[in-house]
Amino acid sequence: MKASSSRAFLQRQLRSLVKRGGVSAADASGSYAVQHLPEWMAKRSFDFDRWRRLWVERNPRNDRADLARLVMFLENVRQIEEEGIAGSVAELGVYRGTTAKLLHELLPGRRLWLFDTFEGFDSRDLAHERKAGDFRFDDTSLEAVLRYVGASVDVRACKGRFPDTATSVPPGETFALVHLDADLYKPTAEALAFFYPKLVPGGLLILHDYGSGAWPGIAQAVDAFFADKPESLVRIPDKSGTAILRRSKRAAI
Ligand SMILES: C[S@@+](CC[C@H](N)C(=O)[O-])C[C@H]1O[C@@H](n2cnc3c(N)ncnc32)[C@H](O)[C@@H]1O
Repeated sequence: MKASSSRAFLQRQLRSLVKRGGVSAADASGSYAVQHLPEWMAKRSFDFDRWRRLWVERNPRNDRADLARLVMFLENVRQIEEEGIAGSVAELGVYRGTTAKLLHELLPGRRLWLFDTFEGFDSRDLAHERKAGDFRFDDTSLEAVLRYVGASVDVRACKGRFPDTATSVPPGETFALVHLDADLYKPTAEALAFFYPKLVPGGLLILHDYGSGAWPGIAQAVDAFFADKPESLVRIPDKSGTAILRRSKRAAI
């Protein structure tokens, strides 16, 4: 055996040992859920580390380990690309741009609409909440987000309170993927009414915080809106209880 191939063999053995030992130790501690990547992402030909680094670099500390959510975005994007689902991408609730940047990097050729006050929650929206949490999300700015996400011609950032800013979207615009992450009942209810009819057949609506219980207004708005719609939600086992809805392939838009 050549020196290089025996070194590679030893490295593989060592990696496997660490993996098996690490999983057992974490499992025995009872405090970790050890997650395996989907097999296609674990292949050498897929650079998962690149996406993991992007995920970690701006995410708040308590969200960095939520790899299930990152993997969900990777799977969603793969699905609409493979199935040729055309349309723009939109996000309501951008804050400092973590998920916006990820979406822009994952779907570089698509128009990306970003809606946020870029100054935190609006007090008129907070008036509809039973209890307002500690977060305000006001430590950001449009300029800083554009620098981070990349101010390409495809990025359309709409600063202000949604739905006031929805007037920037031309009437014929349609969406393949919409990510709602505004935390509050009012903007979520408004966004559902605005985006659902513009979601193309097979398009994805990603509803962050649906099942977390941290922001009860989300489930309230979503359940009321979809009560008379043909589609149903699928819950994702990530940290914040994301739910996904896929627009019916028979939908007429
Ligand atoms: C949880 S943060 C978004 C997090 C972001 N997706 C990320 O990756 O870090 C929620 C954001 O929703 C925005 N937001 C809430 N209500 C809004 C409204 N009516 N109009 C515009 N933005 C709103 C807040 O300003 C805040 O930045």
